[in-house]
Amino acid sequence: MTFKTALITGITGQDGPLLAEFLLEKGYRVVGARQWSPLPDDQNLTRLEKFGDRFSLRPADMSDSGNLTRLLAEEKPDEIYNLAAQSHVAISYDLPEMTADVNALGPLRLLEAIRTLGMEKTTRFYQASSSEMFGNAPAPQSETTPFAPCSPYAAAKLYAYWITVTYRNAYGIHASNGILFNHESPIRGQDFVTRKITHAVAKISLGGTDPLVLGNLDSRRDWGHARDYVEGMWQMLQQDTPGDYVLATGESRTVRACVEQAFSCIGLRVIWRGRGPNEIGCDPRTGRVLVRIDPALFRPNEVHALLGDSDKARRVLGWKPKISFADMIYEMVQSDRQDLFQGTESLLTKSLETFYQNEGSAHLIREAS
Ligand code: NAP
Ligand code: GDD
Repeated sequence: MTFKTALITGITGQDGPLLAEFLLEKGYRVVGARQWSPLPDDQNLTRLEKFGDRFSLRPADMSDSGNLTRLLAEEKPDEIYNLAAQSHVAISYDLPEMTADVNALGPLRLLEAIRTLGMEKTTRFYQASSSEMFGNAPAPQSETTPFAPCSPYAAAKLYAYWITVTYRNAYGIHASNGILFNHESPIRGQDFVTRKITHAVAKISLGGTDPLVLGNLDSRRDWGHARDYVEGMWQMLQQDTPGDYVLATGESRTVRACVEQAFSCIGLRVIWRGRGPNEIGCDPRTGRVLVRIDPALFRPNEVHALLGDSDKARRVLGWKPKISFADMIYEMVQSDRQDLFQGTESLLTKSLETFYQNEGSAHLIREAS
């Protein structure tokens, strides 16, 4: 029996390992493309070890077309999921050129490789487009909402969106855009706001004394669970015809509400005092400051309110999110608590080992003499 081969770029991020796990469970052979690093961080990939050699890793960089073309020629994937990106909106202001190279030209290089190799009819292509492309367009945003990108990240993603549509129309490639609203999980990068919040809350629950430091508390996001969203990516590539789909929960919350939800997971309520950069979030029982603001974390150009209308995906793909926001935040807080606890435990074990190696053995030597 032959199974399909999927190539996933961005395999070391959040969505890559979750999508790989989903596809491997369906029997796929999965090739994960990862950029070279002298100190590779494979932490998120340990969940894939159980699939043995149906999962493999290949070096690939989105800025190198020759490398990407050779990769496609050798692996001959039935499906390509292009998840690789410089995905942090705030960082894209510091690294606009690199962001454009990876996020905009990266997908172009993959699409050109498909064309060069004559794989137009044999390889399906998924592009990780983003709700950030809507910018401050009025909510709710759907596939028919005009895009209004307002960050270097979003501008680069918009190019990728249109080049995907262009190659679909010009060359008949089965190429689809998933316009995904924010999705999170316990393996979300710690610089994104949900994980930053759950990690800080977990630390506080284990005795940490540092407050959580944030930027804009009032921006609104439509947050879903990444496990639900990777299923939608796969569903898009199983359709007879390619297309573009919004995936979203249809619920929007402020960053402030996310903070309150996360603290509630450890039995703490937050009350807010002050305004603007002087606002603080406190524990009403003790007065302890749990949250404070750093104006440096505000963005030069904020996307204020994202709220998705995923009616098309629900009707055509039969997709719908299953995991609630409250359950997701609870899972993330618990996972961070567990990681921190194990980290503390292993530090404690290490220091005991060192104690026995040094002090302990000295003590034994003294006893013996
Ligand atoms: P992520 O955690 O930031 O992962 C990005 C991945 O891209 C990482 O594996 C990273 O590798 C890789 N990458 C970066 N530059 C590369 C390069 N030059 N060559 C090869 N690989 C490179 O992102 P995510 O949350 O999983 O999101 C997946 C995709 O969906 C991204 O394209 C993102 O923009 C898009 N998206 C995400 C969301 C969301 O809410 N998560 C919503 C809409 C769209 P390293 O680990 O080596 O840096
Ligand atoms: N990261 C971060 N850190 N964001 C903060 C902070 C902070 O300390 N304080 C407030 N925020 C606010 C940001 O200003 C933004 O309004 C919101 O929290 C969400 O920020 P992020 O979690 O960084 O996500 P994002 O919405 O900018 O981008 C994510 O979602 C996009 C889809 O809408 C990323 O995953 C993008 O790659 C993705 O395309």
